[in-house]
Amino acid sequence: MAYPLLLDWYDANRRVLPFRGTRDPYAVWISEIMLQQTRTDTVSGYYTRFLNRFPNIAALAQADEQEVLKYWEGLGYYSRARNLHKAAQIMQREYGGRFPAAYEGIRALPGVGDYTAAAVASIAYRLPYPAIDGNLTRVLARVHGVREDVGRPSVKRLIHELGEREIDRERPGDWNQALMDLGATICVPGTPDCARCPLQAQCDAYAQGDADQLPIRAAARPPVPVDVGVGLVIAEGRVLMIKRDAALLKGLWTFLLCEGDSTPEGMARKLEALGMQANRIIPLGEARHVFTHRIWNMQLYRVDLPAMPGRTAGQWADAQTLTGLPLPTAMKAARRAAMDILLKE
Ligand code: ADE
Repeated sequence: MAYPLLLDWYDANRRVLPFRGTRDPYAVWISEIMLQQTRTDTVSGYYTRFLNRFPNIAALAQADEQEVLKYWEGLGYYSRARNLHKAAQIMQREYGGRFPAAYEGIRALPGVGDYTAAAVASIAYRLPYPAIDGNLTRVLARVHGVREDVGRPSVKRLIHELGEREIDRERPGDWNQALMDLGATICVPGTPDCARCPLQAQCDAYAQGDADQLPIRAAARPPVPVDVGVGLVIAEGRVLMIKRDAALLKGLWTFLLCEGDSTPEGMARKLEALGMQANRIIPLGEARHVFTHRIWNMQLYRVDLPAMPGRTAGQWADAQTLTGLPLPTAMKAARRAAMDILLKE
């Protein structure tokens, strides 16, 4: 093995995390999906709650998608939850309720990419696949002195090959998680703590003195700002809720949105297009939410209707119903304002 001190370091320094106590492929899969784009301390609470409610493939497959989304509420990237649910149903229907035990079978599940398939295969089944995430990319680029843009396909391939070459064949899951922990605690972006690093003697970037410059990555495109009007449409003590069909936040519920125009006039036109006439439209303040590719600059409005219209897209929710719906974090301020209105009037 090319990193002789790594697993000893891991055995002495591994982080204690709630999802570390198991090799059940179902539990490992849930945790690795949650850990995509999400910090370990955020995931911990969600993971425990999710596994208590959906302890196995059958429980998840039988659940309603809306309930799965409710357990995911606040974690973001909600297609992860919809894909988990879909994958559980596929395993239940087509694989006799069993988790696939080979890399290719895991990789074929919806929502599972190279990283997740490798993480599950290595941790649950001890198969020697490197789980190349941002942490492993950074550590491998530094140790092996990769001084090219790690976003380029050829450089990605190179990093992958380095991982395949170096992975410990006896303890591949621990090897992957050791590099994740190293990347999270010592070989961090910007200013690595090389003095404490078990890979220091092998590290090209340490020898060259440019670890803080690596990995090289082209700047990401910044998110595009969009004005969004958010209408808390109230009638007969209920608020109008709409289920999203657009790719962003699909399956979650929002208030009445006017995307691209946050003015009161825009909101009035939106209502008119839906056949609704407001008694009044009152500004309630602003809110902002940053997604990966978008920033929503929101203006909140209270919109009072004389009565609930006979037919509307969506549903009219009282306070209790609203509490039970899965809402995205972008609606947090609006939900609080809506709850105030529904509970106080
Ligand atoms: N990030 C993603 N998966 C992880 C794991 N298994 N341990 C620590 N950090 C992680």
